[in-house]
Amino acid sequence: VPRDAPAAGTSQFVVVANRLPVDRVQNDDDSSGWALSPGGLVTALIPVMKDHGGTWVGWVGSADEHIEPFTFDGYGIMPVDLSAQEFNEYYEGMSNATFWPLYHDCVEHPEYHREWWDSYMEVNQRFATAAAEVAAPGATVWVQDYQLQNVPALLRQMRPDLKIRFFLHIPFPPSELFMQLPWRYQVISGLLGSDQIGFQDPGSARNFAHLVRRLAGMRTQGDRIFSPDGRVILARAYPISIDAQEILDLSRTPQARAEAEQLREDLGNPDKIFLGVDRLDYTKGLRHRVRAFGELFTSGQLDPMRNVYLQIATPTREGVARYQVLRSIIDEMVGRINSSVGRIGRSPIEYRHASYPKMALAAMYRAADVMVVTPLRDGMNLVAKEYVASHDSDAGALVLSEFAGASLELKQAYMVNPYDLNGMKNQLLRAAGDTHANHVRRMRSMRKQVFRHDIDAWANSFLTDLGTERPV
Ligand code: ADP
Ligand code: G6P
Repeated sequence: VPRDAPAAGTSQFVVVANRLPVDRVQNDDDSSGWALSPGGLVTALIPVMKDHGGTWVGWVGSADEHIEPFTFDGYGIMPVDLSAQEFNEYYEGMSNATFWPLYHDCVEHPEYHREWWDSYMEVNQRFATAAAEVAAPGATVWVQDYQLQNVPALLRQMRPDLKIRFFLHIPFPPSELFMQLPWRYQVISGLLGSDQIGFQDPGSARNFAHLVRRLAGMRTQGDRIFSPDGRVILARAYPISIDAQEILDLSRTPQARAEAEQLREDLGNPDKIFLGVDRLDYTKGLRHRVRAFGELFTSGQLDPMRNVYLQIATPTREGVARYQVLRSIIDEMVGRINSSVGRIGRSPIEYRHASYPKMALAAMYRAADVMVVTPLRDGMNLVAKEYVASHDSDAGALVLSEFAGASLELKQAYMVNPYDLNGMKNQLLRAAGDTHANHVRRMRSMRKQVFRHDIDAWANSFLTDLGTERPV
């Protein structure tokens, strides 16, 4: 055990998430080190970790690798190892080919395999054991997301002294879909090990309460669940957000401004730049979106010589079959459209399958006249909020799916039902062609919302919302 490993049983605040908040980086002298991962959750929780002597329990991101616990920048890092088989069954399988589609409206068919479930439970037990080991008496443990739904109950069995909180970053489905799950009772019981369960939206919280009554036979009242062991469990919505100021500051830097100008020039100085930024995930509505743009360019309603649709698709979960199929479909659709409209040296759709640094994303947000966020189902969608936060100039427009959690807050977006192709095409044209005064009015009101309800406000409201206990 390295000298600087977090001491057992001393952490007052423990975060348990599938991924660690740090990525491995290569130093100049070829040794390797660690750097903080980008992302709102990490940004929001690190100060809390530092203040309370925290430890983060998570997986390092590669299979069949063992890493000793260590401290990083004043808090503990407790790696949980996954074997290649567990990567396949717990991560790619149960998490991302069962729960992910099931919880996103079944936009793709969830697969149910008993050995995936066994692996899921085994890995959840490993995370729970690691958390139990580092947590101080009476500590707060905050468990994150659908990969770890059984950690709360497993942890409570070992450590009933802990305050256990859980936040689900994706939607919680209606019972009509959830009831398909062969392990539906176990999942509900797993979550009910928590003292507090947070959802992105009130609909998810209601779906959960309904299932608790139906499957666990517990009484609920508003956002309170009465457990037979005498506990009162709080289950309600806490919509997550972003570090709005950080994103605004980034987009105002000379580098972001210069990159934005360069981008516009590289794209041939079009009248309008439409932008999409998504993981290449079937929940993001990319097929419908590309199809809508294809029709607009082909019909000439959007002049392919004067408009560009830039789509950034981040590589993700590439071992999962549905993701491979989606990649081929989008490649083909984009190729087909670009080869038939536009002309040599000018493609109406610019499509990149790659990750970009935060600075480059900020520049893209800045350059985009119309941001297009049209998921078929999305717990929140942070990209929509990032666009709003980074667009401090008066122009800009957001086209947003009503099936993204963000639509409950960003009410001034040009709202679309992504399944309604004609409706979506009309809204894209409307957003691009609206008056400057309307753009300003809509963006201002959305900006106000995002800055008032940023990631710190989210973490605070979650962590101070148990009433009976001190915060954290
Ligand atoms: P999801 O959590 O489903 O991926 P969100 O929109 O809520 O969707 O969050 C995605 C996050 O990933 C955002 O913070 C966004 O800035 C970041 N991101 C998306 N695409 C890229 C990319 N190509 N390169 C770097 N970061 C990206
Ligand atoms: C969503 C999930 C997160 C997940 C992220 C990236 O935001 O809610 O839990 O970490 O996607 O997916 P990945 O499978 O690469 O962790």
